[in-house]
Amino acid sequence: MERVNTGIPGLDNLIGGGIPAGLSVLVAGTCGTGKTILSLQFLYNGALEGDPGVYVTFEESKDKIFSQGGEFGWDLKGLEDKNLLDIYVVDTDDIDDVLADIKRRIEKINARRLALDSLTTMMEHGVIYRSKISKDLGRREREKLGLRFASKGFDVTRKDIYAIIGEINKFGTTSFLVSEAGEGGEYISRDTISEFACDGVIQLKINEFGGEIERLLSVRKMRGTKINISLSPIKFNDSGIVIEE
Ligand SMILES: Nc1ncnc2c1ncn2[C@@H]1O[C@H](COP(=O)(O)OP(=O)(O)O)[C@@H](O)[C@H]1O
Ligand SMILES: [Mg+2]
Repeated sequence: MERVNTGIPGLDNLIGGGIPAGLSVLVAGTCGTGKTILSLQFLYNGALEGDPGVYVTFEESKDKIFSQGGEFGWDLKGLEDKNLLDIYVVDTDDIDDVLADIKRRIEKINARRLALDSLTTMMEHGVIYRSKISKDLGRREREKLGLRFASKGFDVTRKDIYAIIGEINKFGTTSFLVSEAGEGGEYISRDTISEFACDGVIQLKINEFGGEIERLLSVRKMRGTKINISLSPIKFNDSGIVIEE
């Protein structure tokens, strides 16, 4: 089986040496748990090894991403110039064809990795997922053609979520799908369904414990490979996130 190095020191050991190629992995956590940094690090270290990647953001500007990377000495701009990375800042006012746009960008640089930051935001904006048509068609015409929309807001259905993740799986990339978690809920993602639809789940947490803050990571699921399901402390060092034994 082909495995993909995550580029996160310590993480590959928890999943039998790497993510089975082509899987979609949900990266779930509340605000500030490190989802964005983890996803960028996955792409950055992959690109350094010659694996091109596409980073899709609905939240941050390109400048913010570059300066975030700069904090860890990551030359994201340099990788973009070499076509090893494509940072795609989605205009959320024009989002209907976003999956087709992502696909075009993947094909353009032969990307083998994808990070979607975040799946939650993308679904909340409402996204067409059988997007093979021109942008000129209106919503009603698309519906007549049987093209489905994920609904806006929080009433995205189970079927929508499975269909969107199904479309992402067709890209063939090994993908990190960032998902916002509700605070203290019993489910991993806020939509409560994404964790079932994805092949893998990495959960990030912040624990408060007697005035101390602890950052933790656990691999909850990874199809096709043995996992070590322990809660591992994570730290930030000069080059990004590291997982401690
Ligand atoms: N060099 C660093 N050292 C320690 N913590 C850092 C460093 N860089 C970022 N962080 C922490 O990481 C958090 C943000 O991580 P991020 O990936 O943006 O979280 P998320 O996407 O889950 O909201 C920040 O709140 C900050 O506290
Ligand atoms: Mg983030």
